Amino acid sequence: MTAQQPVRFDDITAEDLFRLGGSKWSRHGDALGAFVAEMDFGLAEPIKRVLHQMVDDGLSGYISPAWDEQLKQATVDFVGRRYGWQVDTRNVLSAPDVLTGMLITMRHHLKPEARVILPTPAYMPFMFLPQMAGHELVQVPMLRTADNWELDFDAIEDAFEEGDMFVLCNPHNPIGKVYTRDELARLAQIVEKYHGRVFNDEIHAPLTLNGATHVPYPSVSDEAAAHSLTAMSASKAWNLAGYKCAQLVLNDEDLKTSKKFAFDLHGTATPGMLSNIVAFNEGEPWLEEVITYLEGNQQRLLELVAEELPGAVFVPNQGTYLAWLDVEALGIEGRPSDFFLRQGRVALTDGGACGDVGKHSVRLNFGTPRPVLEQVVRRMGAALRNR
Ligand SMILES: Cc1ncc(COP(=O)(O)O)c(C=O)c1O
Repeated sequence: MTAQQPVRFDDITAEDLFRLGGSKWSRHGDALGAFVAEMDFGLAEPIKRVLHQMVDDGLSGYISPAWDEQLKQATVDFVGRRYGWQVDTRNVLSAPDVLTGMLITMRHHLKPEARVILPTPAYMPFMFLPQMAGHELVQVPMLRTADNWELDFDAIEDAFEEGDMFVLCNPHNPIGKVYTRDELARLAQIVEKYHGRVFNDEIHAPLTLNGATHVPYPSVSDEAAAHSLTAMSASKAWNLAGYKCAQLVLNDEDLKTSKKFAFDLHGTATPGMLSNIVAFNEGEPWLEEVITYLEGNQQRLLELVAEELPGAVFVPNQGTYLAWLDVEALGIEGRPSDFFLRQGRVALTDGGACGDVGKHSVRLNFGTPRPVLEQVVRRMGAALRNR
């Protein structure tokens, strides 16, 4: 393997990843990294090129308005081409990241007394950011069927009070569900009935698997568009989170108060903005390669779970590279993630951090070379057998 040849994903080893020392591969010593939502496949060539060029040209100052315009155009072109969602560049704003987008939504667009309704299991920071912003959090567990997850619409409606905010994550981290148009339309009706809002997180949207179709929430009805704020980024699908750039899609009404955003936009970083532009404009061939590889990983994971963790329940995800494993039947004492870290030297996300429903589950990141994924699950199996 020379520096000139493209690295096949299978050829990247755990040793390589420990040596690089990213977050997933350094926070738990010698434990294999399968927790934080990062992929281990390096960068797409066009993205590498623009970042090298940025350094060569000494572009180290503040964001240029021209790049901001290019990002808006790249964003609307991408969502139009990929999801058939027509957005005006005027309605797109930049932000450093999606969680800042959520904080902005709560700060500028929610009444102080509004509560935040969260379907669980949920992405971990959604469990504490609403409270940090002064809003009560209401967890509504999702319903699990044999091969899918469903929103509990009756419970959501029972939970809703006038002006509350629903947090939609589509594809849904940590369960990987991709919502159908009908589900989104039904949700929109409930939100509308209570004059509520939706914070719509579509950060994982480019990563749909096995033919699943991503439907942007604001595209399902005028009401949905009017009561939602959508946050997205190239950061998950092209692995750019550390470079700091996301996009917020606001409706016309919210745009009127968007002057307040000027300060928040200050946090968007040049490498993030340049790499997001290139990802949207030129990154789809790499993305398709990654999606095909992830589909293969998911298939292998299903086999490995059956072999190594018999009794664990894994509803195959329709999007993203995060697998939700319910390991209750394995009879592990204490937190399953602690057990696998201690006994197996595998770092997983604690399901309990995703809501009360998750305490017998773990989230496993399969966005990694297949031989590493194999090691991860084999180690988990060995830990169970040796206890
Ligand atoms: C669903 C979801 N939303 C938001 C984030 C955080 O995104 P950002 O780094 O842009 O705040 C993540 C990161 O894993 C995520 O999975």
